[in-house]
Amino acid sequence: MALHTSLTHIAIIMDGNGRWAKARGLPRIAGHQRGAEAVRTAVRGCRNLGIPYLTLYAFSSENWKRPASEVDDLMGLLRVYVRSELAELHSGGVRLRFIGERDALPRDVVTLIEESEALTRANDGLTLSVAVNYGSHREIIRACQQLAGEVVAGRLAIADIDETAFVRRLETVGIPDPDLLIRTSGEKRLSNFLLWQIAYSEFVFLDILWPDFSEQTLHDAVAEYHNRERRYGASSA
Ligand code: IPE
Ligand code: IPE
Ligand code: MG
Repeated sequence: MALHTSLTHIAIIMDGNGRWAKARGLPRIAGHQRGAEAVRTAVRGCRNLGIPYLTLYAFSSENWKRPASEVDDLMGLLRVYVRSELAELHSGGVRLRFIGERDALPRDVVTLIEESEALTRANDGLTLSVAVNYGSHREIIRACQQLAGEVVAGRLAIADIDETAFVRRLETVGIPDPDLLIRTSGEKRLSNFLLWQIAYSEFVFLDILWPDFSEQTLHDAVAEYHNRERRYGASSA
């Protein structure tokens, strides 16, 4: 089997915080807190492995369906995470990026997002994208609206709408497609995450819950990735 050493981008659906807490008789927030610790672990692991891009699904456009108190807790944890990690991430050369619609987020969270992106923009280490209020369907529809607007304005010909033109209107513009998608918690679904971008990604579904994610977990997933043969529709090597 052909070994593929190139691993540029890992995307992770960080799932299972609630079940981790429930199994211990703790409130869900305790699971989310431990989940934030696992985020630190994942970021450190990718930096140690020299992976250039990491994208983390932190809050989906569907997560607003949760009780307001849990949504508040998650926004609070996002604030705490960015405030406490920003200096270290910046000095480590990490470029922070956020994807997802910002309009619905608390004003101070938007400010924090903008400030952290501005501070780390020129860094050339790990690009860490955090998906907050992100949903693929909305992202794709917005790209279509933008293309349609440009056609109507006479700036774009319909014949020029191709994959390249489309990808330029996605929020992930400039970020290569994920090579490896990891989801923890045993669920085997995508939950509206990066649907366009993962057309040819390798999927690794893990039974462990996100708060239990360790550097070893990351290494195992990466090892599994390297055992896959990516064919992109071509014949087997
Ligand atoms: C993932 O853990 C965190 C978010 C989706 C924000 P969950 O909160 O979904 O945990 P489970 O799936 O209920 O165990
Ligand atoms: C997906 O997890 C979203 C994030 C990890 C942020 P969910 O727990 O929201 O997904 P479903 O509801 O089980 O599909
Ligand atoms: Mg979940």
